Amino acid sequence: MTLAETAQRADTFDLTGRRAIVTGASRGIGRAITLEFAARGVRVVAVARSAEDLEETRRLAEGGAGEVLPLEADLRGDAGGPRAVVESAVELLGGVDVLVNNAGFDNEQGIDDTTVDQWDKVLDLNVRSLFLLCQAASPYLKDGGGKVINIASIFGHVGARAELAYVTSKHAVMGMTKCLALEWARKGVQVNALCPGFVDTEMLARAVGDEASASYLRRMTPLGRWAQPEEMVGPAVFLASSASDFMTGQALIVDGGYTAQ
Ligand SMILES: NC(=O)c1ccc[n+]([C@@H]2O[C@H](COP(=O)([O-])OP(=O)(O)OC[C@H]3O[C@@H](n4cnc5c(N)ncnc54)[C@H](OP(=O)(O)O)[C@@H]3O)[C@@H](O)[C@H]2O)c1
Repeated sequence: MTLAETAQRADTFDLTGRRAIVTGASRGIGRAITLEFAARGVRVVAVARSAEDLEETRRLAEGGAGEVLPLEADLRGDAGGPRAVVESAVELLGGVDVLVNNAGFDNEQGIDDTTVDQWDKVLDLNVRSLFLLCQAASPYLKDGGGKVINIASIFGHVGARAELAYVTSKHAVMGMTKCLALEWARKGVQVNALCPGFVDTEMLARAVGDEASASYLRRMTPLGRWAQPEEMVGPAVFLASSASDFMTGQALIVDGGYTAQ
């Protein structure tokens, strides 16, 4: 391999100067991805409801080559919310190259206990807001080199007991990922899903805190443990960078072997 080829290969994961929106950036997986992007020179509009937690994300990113611009917003409810998020981000960044649809919610109930209100809450955030964000971002992503990363789940591939609305929502995210990948394939926009297994965040706190549930999670995961949020950033960098330019409509499953069983 020539030196030039080696240098080009080193650049494959380069994100310098890219402009991103990351939803659910106030904690957990979204914060970890935001911090890694900012360290790699990305200007990130970080979206969530908690202004205080977003400010902490911004503070943690200080000193990186990029920057974090907090944007407080509720992605549920009024369809104008997600659209306004994209418009504000475009104003702040001058465009959008990467959209990470990460904000999500799990009500952890089965068929007999899921109320209509809970069902709507899960589907509203996990599915409807993705549709609205992608629709609003569509013209900007098509400007060239656009990437969409939908944070789905292993539960976009397999079922689970007492997870009716959540599993349904994540299968819908997989469907949306494939449809958008096909619609935008000739526009140079790649759309992929990053599908974590169990990750140590607030979403998993109840299970991790309960010894019976924690030992079930360990038993169900061939690697024998759950992941830390930082273990999702490498795959996210891959999906945001030109390293994944020939990949679209796919799922990158990062689950410690859960779905290999
Ligand atoms: N943890 C896991 O084991 C796991 C496994 C597979 C997939 N995932 C997926 O990974 C993604 C991130 O999950 P996580 O584990 O990092 O969860 P988390 O720690 O609970 O974080 C969820 C994020 O979404 C934001 N959010 C929630 N409701 C919102 C709303 N209405 N509007 C705007 N933002 C909202 C939260 O911020 P605010 O509360 O400040 O709004 C927070 O930043 C989710 O899509 C989840 O389904 C997680």
